[in-house]
Amino acid sequence: MPKYIPEPFRIKMVEPIHLIDRSERKKALERAGYNLFGLRSDEVYIDLMTDSGTGTMSQEQWAAMMTGDEAYAGARSFYRLKEVMDEIFGFKHFVPVHQGRAAENILTAVMLKPGNKVPSNMHFDTTEGNIRARGGVPVNLIGKIAYDPKVHADFKGDMDVDALRAWIEETGVENIPFGMMTITNNAGGGQPVSMGNLKAVSKVYREYGIPFFIDACRYAENAYFIKLREKGYADKTPLEIAQEIFSLADGATMSAKKDGLVNMGGFLALNDDEVFTRVKAELILREGFPTYGGLSGRDLDALAVGLKEALQVEYLAYRLGQAEYFAGRLIEVGIPIVEPPGAHAVYVDAAALLPHLTREQLPGQALSVAMYLEGGIRGVELGTVAFGQLKDGKWEFPALEVVRMAIPRRVYTQSHFDYVVDVFAEIKKGAGKIKGMKMTYAPELLRHFTAKFEEI
Ligand code: F0G
Repeated sequence: MPKYIPEPFRIKMVEPIHLIDRSERKKALERAGYNLFGLRSDEVYIDLMTDSGTGTMSQEQWAAMMTGDEAYAGARSFYRLKEVMDEIFGFKHFVPVHQGRAAENILTAVMLKPGNKVPSNMHFDTTEGNIRARGGVPVNLIGKIAYDPKVHADFKGDMDVDALRAWIEETGVENIPFGMMTITNNAGGGQPVSMGNLKAVSKVYREYGIPFFIDACRYAENAYFIKLREKGYADKTPLEIAQEIFSLADGATMSAKKDGLVNMGGFLALNDDEVFTRVKAELILREGFPTYGGLSGRDLDALAVGLKEALQVEYLAYRLGQAEYFAGRLIEVGIPIVEPPGAHAVYVDAAALLPHLTREQLPGQALSVAMYLEGGIRGVELGTVAFGQLKDGKWEFPALEVVRMAIPRRVYTQSHFDYVVDVFAEIKKGAGKIKGMKMTYAPELLRHFTAKFEEI
């Protein structure tokens, strides 16, 4: 049985949670069109929908918020954040933004033309959406093992470097405005990327003169995986590893709602002076003046503190340990998951758990509904509904059919995870009776947020 590393904090403020009756949960599901995004959070008992913006801030962060400088231009808060940004990321320029997709929007607005293609190990859905919204094409070049939930490997987020090189030759450098890497790879099980792979990818991008942007949402967790698993990094601090990672890139987008340990925030950072001039113009139009970018001064201060806390070894050991414990206990009760687990979530292989359903019957969606009905647990489908392509009424299925249970940072304790495992044990007993789903409404982009479903 996996060991649980105790929380490296005590709890000083509590937020009550309640489990409503099964009949009420059934009613809530019907009202929400069987889409868990449509639930009120009061209707959810254990909310594992996302690790984004759902973390608990520390006493140091709350204290820093009191020092927030709300000046429109040149606030002290910005300069405090800048000091931390310079230390960790080391890019020449950065602007705060209200969240990750705002950084993606600005990056694509200033760098991407219709018909352009953008490679990555695997883009997240908002990154894909922003590229497509500007007429571009997102391309995923992750190694094949990423698609096999049962293969154990240290760095299943690694890009296939040979495939990248061949793809660039075929596509033509003139059609590739920038290249990316997502660390850790959220859309593919939250798997980390190795320093070796980041170096190799950076070398290829640089050889072809393609600017390299890192999607840095969970960079601290990725840095800690490198420390634990990659030769030569055991004695380096997560900060030193992070510095090395970002020295390989030309810029980064970040949703600071993850490893920034804040409820709202993000940034776009880059080295190029000319591109930065255009970034600032776009930012002023869409988000705000470059020293606040859509955030309050106090948000910038909370972020400056959070970015440093997320790199503490004690915190990261607990964080990765929590995911490992949760995953290990699910395996114990026979739940198929993507192995090994990443740091921010455990992904249940819905197709394997519900083999009586065809992919058309949306097993991921069906499982997420069953988790809520059985135990008031909210996860998120990251399978056909989120990533499948629907052409003339026919599905093109993504490789993985998973439900993600994301772990909010510093929020739930061991007993909460034990409860979720107990619910899964019940679900497994009655798995054969879980009904498939069909989609009755879907928007064109970012389908899973607002689609509606019916049971078959
Ligand atoms: N990139 C990655 C890898 C992400 O996981 C996310 C968000 C974003 C970009 C966009 O950031 O939400 O601040 O605009 N992921 C959240 C999640 C929503 O639940 O995984 P955002």
